[in-house]
Parts: sequence; structure tokens; C-alpha cells
Amino acid sequence: MKKLLKNSLKKLGIYDPYLKFKFKYLTPRGIGHWEPLIPEKEFYSSVKLAIEKLLENETDDSLGSYLEFGVSRGTSMSSVFHVLKELKLDQVQLIGFDSFEGMPEGSEKEGWATGQYHSTITATTKYLIDRKVDMARVHLVKGWFSDTLFEKAKKDLNITKASIIMVDCDIYSASKTALNFCFPLIKDHAILIFDDWGWTEDAGIVGQKEAFDEILQQYPYFSTTPLLNYLPQSRVFLISRKIK
Ligand SMILES: C[S@@+](CC[C@H](N)C(=O)[O-])C[C@H]1O[C@@H](n2cnc3c(N)ncnc32)[C@H](O)[C@@H]1O
Repeated sequence: MKKLLKNSLKKLGIYDPYLKFKFKYLTPRGIGHWEPLIPEKEFYSSVKLAIEKLLENETDDSLGSYLEFGVSRGTSMSSVFHVLKELKLDQVQLIGFDSFEGMPEGSEKEGWATGQYHSTITATTKYLIDRKVDMARVHLVKGWFSDTLFEKAKKDLNITKASIIMVDCDIYSASKTALNFCFPLIKDHAILIFDDWGWTEDAGIVGQKEAFDEILQQYPYFSTTPLLNYLPQSRVFLISRKIK
């Protein structure tokens, strides 16, 4: 049915305007069924394994905050909350950054549509509450990363350390801004989760993989251990400060 609609709209030459309308007016307001953007079951298992690995290595009692760059409606945020709950890590605050306007203008050249994945803080909050997430531990920060990811945000939200980080903002520029913001918060060990790893490489488009390679060059004292992925194009790493 979806394919039929897509093909018909394409034939009429109105598929792109339809997408713009959908991302701007329909999905943000929760009209229609919301399709999760990650495979929840696999994501849950992969994050749980990764955090268990982190706990084997981490000697500090405090894991700091969970940072998520790209929240959209909140499926990954909700899954991470429930993994933390199962592991009794109830002290971890969950901080999510998103434009809450979907993908930025110009994302087309990297394979995404402007406005895609648009949610609103209200719709996301409702979704998280419906999924029994304790909102007292969640902070959602609305805005483009270029306007929000500064020292001020760390101070305002009391972010002094990050050990679990999800970078799900798809495109190179946003991923690089997110990594620049969070790397100084990594102490000895951290889990880093990427949802869109290297699948634009064949088309000659730089993406999350290149953003991560570049940040590791800036912080050469970290080593990376790949962990179980939840999708072929996802990557989960344990990163650790090399012993001097
Ligand atoms: C694929 S979605 C995130 C999916 C989410 N993790 C989930 O589980 O449903 C990508 C998100 O990144 C956000 N995003 C991308 N680039 C951004 C930027 N430069 N500033 C703020 N948000 C951005 C978009 O608004 C979008 O909601």
C-alpha cells in the first residue's frame, strides 16, 4: 500500500512536496502510526551487553549522564531508560538533544530529507510517558546542535561525565558537532553507539564513520573495541583511555 502510494505520487510529480508536508504537519503531531526508527529488541540487547561490558571495566561508581544526539520521537531513549532500569543504574540522568524539527536544511546531499524524523517535545514527552519512562530523569534540549552544544549546556544540565553516548543524528556535520561536545566528557571508558555507520561511503559522502575517525585523531589516547551491533549499519564501541 505504502509502495503504491509512493509510486502514484511519484508519477504525479508530487512525492517531494508530499514528504515536506508530511514531515512538517503530520508526523510531528503524532497523526498516523509512528514507525520506530530502530529495531527495539536488537537495540535493547546490544545496549545491555555494551553497558555490562562498560561496568566490567569502569572502576568509578558514577557513570555520569547518558547523552543522546538525535532523539526524534524517543524510541532509543526509552530503550536505554529500560536497560538502565534493568541494570539498576537509577542514578543516570538521560539527556537528549534534538532540533525537534527533523533533519536540517540541506540534508538531501547526504541522503536524508529536510524535516525527516520531525517530532515535537510534546509528542516525544507523551511517547516516553506512554513507555513508562521516568521523566524526572530525562532532559530534552531543543535546538540545532550548532546553537545548543556549548559549555553552557554542560553547566546548566550539570553534565560532568558521559559514559553512554548515542549519536543518532545521521549526517556528518551534526555527528561531528556532537562528538566535539561529548569527547571531553569521557573519562576512562565509554560506550559509543552510532546508528548510521559508513553506508554513504560508497557514494563518496562522508558520514558518521569519518566524523569518528577524525575525533579519534584529536584524542589519540583512546582505544576502541567494537561490540555487538544491532543493525548491519550500526556500530557500538567501548572506548577506553590507553594505559600510560
Ligand atoms: C534518525 S532520527 C533519531 C532517531 C531516534 N534516536 C529514535 O530512536 O527514534 C535523527 C534525529 O537527529 C536530529 N538532528 C539531525 N541533525 C541535527 C542537528 N544538526 N541539530 C539538531 N538535531 C539534529 C533530527 O531532528 C532527528 O530527530
